[in-house]
Amino acid sequence: MFEALEMAPPDPILGITEAFKKDPKPGKINLSIGVYCDENGKTPVFNSVKKAEQRILADEKTKNYVSPNSGTVEYCAAVQGLLFGAGHEAIASKRCATAHTPGGTGALRVAADFIKFLKPDAKVWLSEPTWPNHPSIFAASGIPTAAYPYYDAEGKKLNFGPLLDALKKVPAGDFVLLHGCCHNPTGMDPTVDEWNAIAEVAKAQGWVPLFDFAYQGLADGLAEDARCLTPFVASGREVYVCSSFSKNFGLYNERVGALTLVADSETSAQKALSHLKRIIRTNYSNPPAHGSNIVTTILNDPALRAEWESEVKGMRDRIAGMRQVFVDTLKAKGVKQDFSFLTKQKGMFSFSGLTKAHVDALKEKYGIYIVGSGRINVAGMTPSNMDALGSAIAEVLK
Ligand SMILES: Cc1ncc(COP(=O)(O)O)c(C=O)c1O
Repeated sequence: MFEALEMAPPDPILGITEAFKKDPKPGKINLSIGVYCDENGKTPVFNSVKKAEQRILADEKTKNYVSPNSGTVEYCAAVQGLLFGAGHEAIASKRCATAHTPGGTGALRVAADFIKFLKPDAKVWLSEPTWPNHPSIFAASGIPTAAYPYYDAEGKKLNFGPLLDALKKVPAGDFVLLHGCCHNPTGMDPTVDEWNAIAEVAKAQGWVPLFDFAYQGLADGLAEDARCLTPFVASGREVYVCSSFSKNFGLYNERVGALTLVADSETSAQKALSHLKRIIRTNYSNPPAHGSNIVTTILNDPALRAEWESEVKGMRDRIAGMRQVFVDTLKAKGVKQDFSFLTKQKGMFSFSGLTKAHVDALKEKYGIYIVGSGRINVAGMTPSNMDALGSAIAEVLK
């Protein structure tokens, strides 16, 4: 039985953290992880979250199932307000359907099952490169994936011309996965004009945009980051948005996220939602309540919301600040290569341009852990590890 199995391949990124934990080198640094760290290298609980939890515990009267199983009315409304802005036409005309899912991964998987049901022959197009879990999630739902060009590794920028040309050839009815902001792994996002151009191509071609929106608020601001959605939603055609509240609320282990479908009418949205409920019922039946209660409480309470927004801003500013300090440190250490492109990238991740050989040397000699592609988590940098990090990188680049 089980002995006939081959071992499943370990997750490439989680495996690095295992190796990091075992490494006895003093001063080791983990830049491979996918979570936010503060300047003490900790992943803290937000103050706004702690306060919301105290309120929830004091008021809690039941552990009954979440009803309906697609999420409470309050939670789904709060998610839509965060995505589109309260009172947006798509909300007012009730053409949005939101389902509460376990994290952003849960949202992607429910979306994948829905796509397989709705369009059994559709393909999902992924940016090259993308988050390594994307192809696996769609494969698990039996959906083939294809790649569109995204990053110009030579020029250290978005490969916008080839990207647009490729999207002009995606057939009607296929789906294109777009990272809403803080592209993982490159940190390069389209500008507002580029998003408008992509939305025009979507409309002309008839492919469906599927947003993975795991980092809202970590690039330029909560509303600013959601601008990517505006031209697609304005087109009146279908839009899929997978939200994660793991990063922007620090609720990683509470598993809270949402899938929002924007339809052409209220009737279509209701029909789609009925199928999301069915898919959820046969999958995990009912979502976990605690994380969504936290998100709902914070978003609906002006004081808690203001505190949360300032905590998100604190994360965003720290990440942007570390990017600049990192670039300055490398320069001060005598590194000849120009790393200033890092300050144009957004969010926690950056394609550093370090090669596999550099990554291996940093691990072996200094206990500095980076994903083999050269992707670094800038949030793993702190004022206290920056000097050692800069010296080590300067050494391996020589
Ligand atoms: C691009 C991207 N999408 C989705 C997710 C999933 O987030 P969650 O932990 O909410 O499932 C992540 C998490 O690292 C991510 O980087």
